Amino acid sequence: LSPIPLRRWLRNSVLRAQRPAALLSLLFSVCQAFNLDVDSPFVYDGPAGSYFGFAVDFFVPDTKTVGLLVGAPKANSSQPEIVEGGVVYKCNWGKNQACQPITFDTQGDRVWKDDPIEFKSHQWFGASVRSKNDMILACAPMYQWRTLVKPEREPVGTCYLQNRGRTVEYAPCRT
Ligand SMILES: *[C@@H]1O[C@H](CO)[C@@H](O)[C@H](O)[C@H]1NC(C)=O
Repeated sequence: LSPIPLRRWLRNSVLRAQRPAALLSLLFSVCQAFNLDVDSPFVYDGPAGSYFGFAVDFFVPDTKTVGLLVGAPKANSSQPEIVEGGVVYKCNWGKNQACQPITFDTQGDRVWKDDPIEFKSHQWFGASVRSKNDMILACAPMYQWRTLVKPEREPVGTCYLQNRGRTVEYAPCRT
């Protein structure tokens, strides 16, 4: 943080803030969320062609930890047979800006009587990423599902919610 613009910004904010509570929440959000240093910004990189940065959110699992969540909807995950399924990365905030893939789903496409009934390739997982406390919600809007009765693909989309390593899938449009 470079102190001069921050101080100026805070002074302007103080002038505008009507109530102490509003100012307090403003101060906290400044401390947690914004890097105002335009001269030496943190730079995060992902795999070429993966659309790394398509979605981003802060990750604040506890009061001492701040990280970044970055969606790369065309990245190759390590799921078997899945091409460009998409990956969400967790990145350190601070000096070492390394990013690691978060594991939400290790499986390939489910099959039923030797036919795939879902299609995770090109599902754009990580096209949306949201976090609150230690919970992470990430979605794959292009996920397709084949109904059991008719051999048709339906682009129903799916989401995964992860909380302290426990992951559940939400796909309410899947029949
Ligand atoms: C993902 O893997 C496929 C097949 O190996 C490759 O053609 C494609 O370029 C890869 N995509 C990315 C974004 O790395």
